[in-house]
This record gives sequence, C-alpha cells and structure tokens, in this order.
Amino acid sequence: MKVTTGDYRNIVIFTGAGMSAESGVPTYRGRGGIWHQYNWEEYACQDAFDRDPEKVLKFHELRRKLILSCQPHAGHSAIAELEKHHPGVVVVTQNIDGMHQRSGSKRVIELHGNIWRLRCPKHGVLEDIGEAYRRHRCEHCKSWLRPDVTWFGDMLNHDVVDEATAVIGSSNLFISVGTSGVVWPAAGYPQIAKNNGAYCIEINPEPNEMSHLYDLTIREPAGSALPSLFSMASTS
Ligand code: APR
Repeated sequence: MKVTTGDYRNIVIFTGAGMSAESGVPTYRGRGGIWHQYNWEEYACQDAFDRDPEKVLKFHELRRKLILSCQPHAGHSAIAELEKHHPGVVVVTQNIDGMHQRSGSKRVIELHGNIWRLRCPKHGVLEDIGEAYRRHRCEHCKSWLRPDVTWFGDMLNHDVVDEATAVIGSSNLFISVGTSGVVWPAAGYPQIAKNNGAYCIEINPEPNEMSHLYDLTIREPAGSALPSLFSMASTS
C-alpha cells in the first residue's frame, strides 16, 4: 500500500508508544507494558511525587537509561525523510522519549511533554539529557524538580493541545501510528481529522475502539509499514 503524499497539503502523523516499540521502548498497555509492571499511582502522578519525589525521579531515570540504549527505527527515519520533502508534515506525539527528534524530525508537537526536561514550580523548564538527572532540586530555590511529562491527573498544556488540535483539524491526511486510542484528548483526534475530511490511516498490529473511524487500517508494525507507505511522487 502506497500513499501519494504529494496529493495532500497538510499531513499529520499522530504517534503513540507503539511507534517506539520496535526501538525497544516498552509500551504502556500492551504485552510487557509499563503499567503492567509498575503502578502508575506510585510513579506517574503528582500525589506520588509529593509523597516520594526521589522514588518518582529514580523511576524516570530508569526509563531514561533504557531509552538511551534504544535507537530510532526505519519508521522514525521514514517520517523524518518525508518531512524533509514535504513542508506540510507535522508529528503530534504522545511519546515522551524524544525518538522523533533523534531521528531528525523537526516539527514535533509533544502532547505529553518530554522525559529529557525537568520543571521547577518557580523557575520553569530546563533541559536535562542523560541517564541520571543532573540535579533533583532547583539550584535557585531548592524546590524538587519534576520530570516535564504529563502524568495521570495532570492538565495538559493548553497551548500544546490547541496547537495539536489546530493542525489535526486542518489536516488532509491523518496517519495514526501505535496508539491504543484510550487516553483523551488524543483519543478524539481521529474524529477531528475526519470532520475536516482528512483521509485517515491507522498503523497498528491490533485494532482498538477508534479503528472504525479510519479509511484504511494497516495491521503491521510501524517499522515495516511506514517505510513502504510513503510515495513522494507529487501530483503532476
Ligand atoms: N507498531 C505499531 N503499533 C504497535 C507496535 C508496533 N511495533 N507495537 C505495539 N503497538 C500498538 C499496540 O497495539 C497498542 O495499541 O501500540 C499501542 C500502544 O498502546 P499504549 O501502550 O496504550 O500507548 P499509548 O496509546 O501511546 O498510550 C497513551 O497513555 O499512559 C499514558 O501518557 C501515556 O502517552 C501515553 C498514553
């Protein structure tokens, strides 16, 4: 199956944890998923952080260590390559691993933040790349620094959600890759794309609640489906 990307002005590639699965980054709900091994109520919510910030920071450092040992795969590269040749491509990702950026994608909207950033309640966001965080407390005010990611119960960043909703609402081609479609507002994005008349493609070995909304479902892994999907040929 090929899609002629030159036929579409605005292309959104919407990704979830399944996009990084073949790189070795575990998903959340599938086989070997993170939430089967860890209780998010102890590691991925503000209450857990308030109770034991060190425990939460160490959990995120474990994930950083694993992600650093992983590499982007051919599916990430196919998206980055497409973006080079098509000015209307934007990635909207739920992933916090930074894999799209590592593979060369520039236009990436991170709905759920990024594990390579920390946030001080008073002094804002700072980048921190590496296994262990350089510090666990703000050097200015000594507040505990929390990972700049969206935890259960957090409000999403309104500006980011507005930007994501705007690009999806004006997309002509919407490709969802590796998401179970259970977390909102992301779960509502296929419908928003469809309402704008976008051609909607789902790449996921498993069907889910939102699969019926798609014009085309590709039951293959991202790493093999994406490189063979894009035909750059533009319309004559
Ligand atoms: N290629 C494509 N899809 C895959 C692959 C693969 N190689 N491997 C697994 N998948 C699919 C699974 O079938 C599943 O539908 O990826 C999806 C992963 O679903 P989740 O683990 O629920 O991940 P996601 O949809 O991104 O979760 C959304 O939930 O916990 C929160 O903040 C977290 O961003 C996350 C959000």
